[in-house]
Amino acid sequence: MALLTWDDNLYVGVAGIDEQHKKWVSAFNDLVESIDEQRGTTTIADTLAFMRRYAAEHFAFEEAYMNRHGYPDAEAHQACHMDLMATLVKLESHQKSDALPESLDEVSTFLGNWLITHILDTDMKLGAWLKANGIKE
Ligand SMILES: [Fe+2]
Ligand SMILES: [Fe+2]
Repeated sequence: MALLTWDDNLYVGVAGIDEQHKKWVSAFNDLVESIDEQRGTTTIADTLAFMRRYAAEHFAFEEAYMNRHGYPDAEAHQACHMDLMATLVKLESHQKSDALPESLDEVSTFLGNWLITHILDTDMKLGAWLKANGIKE
């Protein structure tokens, strides 16, 4: 899995959310580097447990934000979050499925792609709505 590069087009325009996204990208890159360098301490279980904890914290933050401001697409957005959490839980408990990646590299690629796609699509829509409604914090 290639490292993720933070790019200005990833800003959704809400400082708290952008800050967490940057931290997630950075933490994800640390993880990929440790896998690539084969430091020997990273296991697939550690990787998934880490991503699950980080995702849960970030999703709760975004969902509280949506609920606080009455975001009309909150339900669909939360469903995307729940999908990833369900996938992480499945991966973590080693429930194999044809649709799920299995190697550490595949898991990293899946998680990296999910993160960037979710920011650019779902989170960006939230940012645009907040901006259109004059909400910045
Ligand atoms: Fe997000
Ligand atoms: Fe989100």
